[in-house]
Amino acid sequence: MNIVFAASECVPYSKTGGLADVVGALPKALAELGHNVSVYLPKYRQTKLTDAKVLLRSVTIPFDDQYRFCSVLDGGKQSGVQFYFIDYPPFFDRDALYGTSAGDYPDNAERFALYSRAVLEASKILGPPDIFHCHDWQSALVPVLLRTSYLDDPIFRNTATVFTIHNIGYQGLFPPDTLPLLMLPWDLFTMDKMEFWGKVNFLKGALAFSDYITTVSRKYSQEIQTPEYGFGLEGVLRGRANTVSGILNGVDYNEWSPEKDKFITRPYSPENLAGKKECKRDLLKQFGIENANVDLPVIGIVSRFATQKGFDLIAEIADDLAGLPIVVTILGSGDKEYEDLFRNLNRQSPDKFALKVAYDNALAHRIEAGADMFLMPSRYEPCGLNQIYSLKYGTVPVVRATGGLDDTIEHWDPATGKGTGFKFTLYSGSSLLSTIHEALEAFKDQSSWKKLMINGMSKDFSWAASAKEYVKIYERLRPSRPASAA
Ligand code: ADP
Ligand code: GLC
Repeated sequence: MNIVFAASECVPYSKTGGLADVVGALPKALAELGHNVSVYLPKYRQTKLTDAKVLLRSVTIPFDDQYRFCSVLDGGKQSGVQFYFIDYPPFFDRDALYGTSAGDYPDNAERFALYSRAVLEASKILGPPDIFHCHDWQSALVPVLLRTSYLDDPIFRNTATVFTIHNIGYQGLFPPDTLPLLMLPWDLFTMDKMEFWGKVNFLKGALAFSDYITTVSRKYSQEIQTPEYGFGLEGVLRGRANTVSGILNGVDYNEWSPEKDKFITRPYSPENLAGKKECKRDLLKQFGIENANVDLPVIGIVSRFATQKGFDLIAEIADDLAGLPIVVTILGSGDKEYEDLFRNLNRQSPDKFALKVAYDNALAHRIEAGADMFLMPSRYEPCGLNQIYSLKYGTVPVVRATGGLDDTIEHWDPATGKGTGFKFTLYSGSSLLSTIHEALEAFKDQSSWKKLMINGMSKDFSWAASAKEYVKIYERLRPSRPASAA
């Protein structure tokens, strides 16, 4: 099958979160299954390309007041996957992908509309796929355009669309006059299409027009059909319940495993855990607290600082945490509210709450390797990748039982020796605190703790199985359409 991925970020070219890891890994797994996969990405200032050739010099993108002309670069093949880049410096040659601390870029609708139209125009020339697989609101206009403005284009007659929701909290909401600006028809501005409380909602458009909708864990696929987690789109999703499913993300163990990790001080494995202690010393050093007692449990956090991630629970129990025999190493950046929270904790107890406000991939790996536990108290978590990485590094996850966190972590039971981590359900500071107490209690018995670590390290969340699930969906969509000429 010919599959085109449309997404706004992808490792190693651009990344703000887990979406980039998924778009970097799933196409490779599909290529290994024998499919032809191309990935279209915006070319940002951060995107480093060597020897990219200009394939299409001038693709015309209409806006109501002017035409814009972008080019398409050939990024070459990586692990059997073809990469293309939409190059339009006025939109993408900027400091960040989506916005700065001052807020989102005001022209994000135009930026990602240009990107989505360019994907369609370029693939008409470079090869129309059997499937467009689109991800999150930034590529949501691909299915919308395909079933509206491009409906009569014979070249796409056999093309189906799959849309994956990585996070329903980000929908791409814009004022109504965005529609004419983007040359989209006004009849999209209805409740069953893109209208949402008086605004234009890109994600809702994708939910209305895609042939199939997936999300990144089974639990999250159920949660987003409820008011608590659906961010107002639960009704739309319930209406499409038989074309919505959850497929758990895999992870790339070439990048994330303690045997192969090029960022860590010493490799280690379930058979020989000696290196982990060295990684722990190194971690304390990285955070400038090398004098801390290395036998104290270290709790790691690597995260975007966003409401989704549940850090208000940490604020609630900060005083209790400060009294516990632990060290917390925190890496992240994002909302000022949480940055301030962690900065205050760090100021009050610098040896207990070690902090680096940054985006730092090498340090993220060193935390995975050096910490004893990994904390993710998320309010909601579509899949979550860090807890899956943590399992492989023998770094025991302490998580809230939501979305992918619930699907990937089994609660530890010392009586049976089964389980891989600790989880709590009720979104409250006291539930989090008692679960941390439970983990610290378990940590005291180092021989059963080792069993718990090994349970996690033995789990396999590689992409092979999930990629096959996607292929089943792609194949299911094909017979409903006229047989492909290809
Ligand atoms: P989300 O996509 O919601 O941010 P995930 O757990 O799916 O959450 O993925 C987060 C990814 O981003 C992981 O690969 C994680 O290591 C990385 N990451 C998040 N924050 C940082 C940071 N400050 N520095 C380095 N990597 C980070
Ligand atoms: C989103 C979610 C995260 C998920 C990632 C990749 O950013 O917040 O839970 O793991 O996408 O699917």
